[in-house]
Amino acid sequence: MRFIAVSVILCAGFFWPTFSHPRGEWTKLTLTQHWPQTFCSVEKTCTTNISFWTLHGLWPNSGMMCNTSWHFNASLIKDLIPEMKKYWPDLIEPSSSEFWKYEWTKHGTCAARAESLNSQHKYFSKALELYHKYNLTNVLKDNRIVPSEQYYTLDDVETAITSFYNVKTKIQCVHPGKGGQVQVLGQIEICVDRDFQLIDCEKSTEEIWSNDIPAVAISGQSELSVCDHSMPIYYPPVPSRS
Ligand SMILES: *[C@@H]1O[C@H](CO)[C@@H](O)[C@H](O)[C@H]1NC(C)=O
Ligand SMILES: *[C@@H]1O[C@H](CO)[C@@H](O)[C@H](O)[C@H]1NC(C)=O
Ligand SMILES: *[C@@H]1O[C@H](CO)[C@@H](O)[C@H](O)[C@H]1NC(C)=O
Ligand SMILES: *[C@@H]1O[C@H](CO)[C@@H](O)[C@H](O)[C@H]1NC(C)=O
Repeated sequence: MRFIAVSVILCAGFFWPTFSHPRGEWTKLTLTQHWPQTFCSVEKTCTTNISFWTLHGLWPNSGMMCNTSWHFNASLIKDLIPEMKKYWPDLIEPSSSEFWKYEWTKHGTCAARAESLNSQHKYFSKALELYHKYNLTNVLKDNRIVPSEQYYTLDDVETAITSFYNVKTKIQCVHPGKGGQVQVLGQIEICVDRDFQLIDCEKSTEEIWSNDIPAVAISGQSELSVCDHSMPIYYPPVPSRS
């Protein structure tokens, strides 16, 4: 019985990916959200009063800039723009569409190899849909992880996230903040498979290296890395207006 079960799992694991899609196609998407306060504390050219996690991108695990002649065209996603401005803002240049154009060219054109995402409208609307569905701001809040001057442990944050999503996510911090005493919660990655179901985000070397390097350079978040257990975590609140 156990032998049969193992065989079935192995066969599924070995054959399913090769049969169901061609070589080079992605098998996983990473939905990346960042905390605007942390972003702007690193990127000194912005200030923000946004008090929820915003979208950074939706990244397939295979390929970058898959079709540079497929130009971003905002008029194709006109109906999504108001929502994108709110939930997927360019924190540095709020009135610009450069951030979306960059994400489309680098990641969207690769995600578009799958029929489910083979247009700009499908790609951006799927990102927004997943963002709403896996409401990170709310998941943290429901587990009493809220922006505050009090610190959390990585265990607190991991427990909150895992208890809801039931998969491994990637929790990233800016190291170190506040004079070396704490790490600052910055970005969280949630992964889905080709059917948009949650799966573990593995922290393989390959994936760490295929990380969003140019976006990191643009966004000034080069200090971001996986949070560690050795320091408390600061989840910076929105400064109250004076
Ligand atoms: C946040 O900032 C924007 C732009 O400066 C302003 O219009 C808005 O009222 C502010 N929101 C809050 C909640 O302070
Ligand atoms: C790249 O995108 C252009 C514009 O949408 C399209 O005409 C072309 O077929 C695409 N090329 C590939 C290799 O998919
Ligand atoms: C953008 O898409 C619209 C609608 O399909 C089209 O009319 C327009 O020519 C496109 N613009 C560019 C620059 O390709
Ligand atoms: C997340 O949930 C909160 C509380 O239910 C809601 O106010 C917020 O609009 C939701 N965010 C998104 C992106 O759906």
